[in-house]
Amino acid sequence: MKNIVVSGALGKMGQEVVKLVDRTDNFKLVGAVDVAKVGEDIKEVLNLEQASAEITNDLGETLEQVEADAVVDFTTPQVVMGNIKTVCEAGVDIVVGTTGITEADLNKVKEFADENNKVIIAPNFAIGAILMMEFSKKAAKFLDDVEIIEQHHDGKLDAPSGTAIKTAELIQENLTPKEDEREEIEKLEGARGAEQDGINIHSVRLPGLVAHQEVLFGGEGQTLKLRHDSINRRSFMPGVALAINKLDEIDGVVYGLDNLIEL
Ligand SMILES: NC(=O)c1ccc[n+]([C@@H]2O[C@H](COP(=O)([O-])OP(=O)(O)OC[C@H]3O[C@@H](n4cnc5c(N)ncnc54)[C@H](O)[C@@H]3O)[C@@H](O)[C@H]2O)c1
Repeated sequence: MKNIVVSGALGKMGQEVVKLVDRTDNFKLVGAVDVAKVGEDIKEVLNLEQASAEITNDLGETLEQVEADAVVDFTTPQVVMGNIKTVCEAGVDIVVGTTGITEADLNKVKEFADENNKVIIAPNFAIGAILMMEFSKKAAKFLDDVEIIEQHHDGKLDAPSGTAIKTAELIQENLTPKEDEREEIEKLEGARGAEQDGINIHSVRLPGLVAHQEVLFGGEGQTLKLRHDSINRRSFMPGVALAINKLDEIDGVVYGLDNLIEL
């Protein structure tokens, strides 16, 4: 049995994680942390089958009061680093889905996670998205021109998405660098998107979207589009469950769901 605290429990993702814990036999909800509805029972708020916990607003204090094996964090880019530190100091394992974690942040996590801490950070928990990234990396061996278009709901605060950045990093490993002598003229700044590892990334934010990404390869007389769509937030839950279950098998800090599955 894994005793789990959900941080950001009332957010769109947090609610799905709480419901995942509620319906999974070997998971037990022991804490629900959020800044809203503090003091209320999450069972009533989310109409849960079994899980019950008073909503608290201090992660550190909550971890002192309950016997937790793991924290799952889906909060905001502004608070996530503080949360990871707090959880590591409490000697509890953590699965992080909150995005906006930079390479510098990751290095900091590695500094404050000692040999007893297990940390899994994944910018995308959708297995299909992991496959899309892997296939993109493979395609880059054969097609050298590529751009990424990522689309998310308008509530997403960070851009480009962690998935888009990670995809660009993976593609870059197989891309043959080439001299580009064209002098582009951006009539509107940003029209060609942002650049990561020499790859243009375009971010779209609109209500009605969930999480979508298209990787567009161009070649002589041909294009290849690799597209993944998360049409609802349940699409991320098998990946979250996998990460929680893998905590026992990993050492230290693992970044990316691709490092937890055999591709
Ligand atoms: N890794 C993935 O697969 C994946 C998928 C979807 C979203 N995300 C990311 O997850 C994060 C959350 O997304 P969302 O759509 O659920 O956002 P959301 O705004 O709906 O939820 C965030 C929740 O965190 C709570 N919160 C804010 N500060 C807090 C604090 N100090 N302590 C505890 N709770 C706090 C908010 O009250 C809110 O309920 C974002 O960074 C998003 O980009 C990741």
